[in-house]
Amino acid sequence: MECSAALKALLVEIIEAPEVYKKIVGMQMLVEGLAMGAFSHGYRYNRDPLARKLFQLVMTDEAFHHKFGKIWADRTIPQLSQAERDLVEDWTAHCAQKLLFDRGAPNQMAELFGAYDMDPERVMADIVQRRKERDPNRRYKSDTNVFRVLIKTLLKAGLITERTRSFYAMYVDLDELAGEGDRMVGDDIAEDGIRYLQEINFKDRARVAVAAE
Ligand SMILES: [Fe+2]
Repeated sequence: MECSAALKALLVEIIEAPEVYKKIVGMQMLVEGLAMGAFSHGYRYNRDPLARKLFQLVMTDEAFHHKFGKIWADRTIPQLSQAERDLVEDWTAHCAQKLLFDRGAPNQMAELFGAYDMDPERVMADIVQRRKERDPNRRYKSDTNVFRVLIKTLLKAGLITERTRSFYAMYVDLDELAGEGDRMVGDDIAEDGIRYLQEINFKDRARVAVAAE
């Protein structure tokens, strides 16, 4: 199945951008951060043991891509001029908005509903109705919500200031985020996966070392 139109448009925009910061913020920090969240679900809720292992092993790789984005931001953002930092902050908000729309707009999932024999029009009408009925002040609260974790990453990287704060405040309580640690959704799953790979990869090495003695 193709990815949704909103996500595809953002990916094309990131690929076509000549600026390095756009690729690192858009891909490593945001898209790959989201991917870690999505794969965490694939790992946790899959009933097929092979599929679970596959999700975990992909995460061992993906975790480093996302971490690279964070390391880049930690070292780079504090060195930028005000004007440069503003540019990066605006691009960050632009990408975050596209991704939130991709996840939040029911029409982006229409094809998926159809694939499960559900009438997309009816599902979308129902989602819209349920949203009208829920508390308008509701925010992402769960510490496993991937958008909440991503916004925390951006905040700690200095990519959210007074200029874009109100945009993110629609989704999360920023004051609450500021005081929290920065463990990522899926970090534990990826770390377990790395230990599993180490056992396999270093098994022969131990044998070679013994043979050489
Ligand atoms: Fe990746």
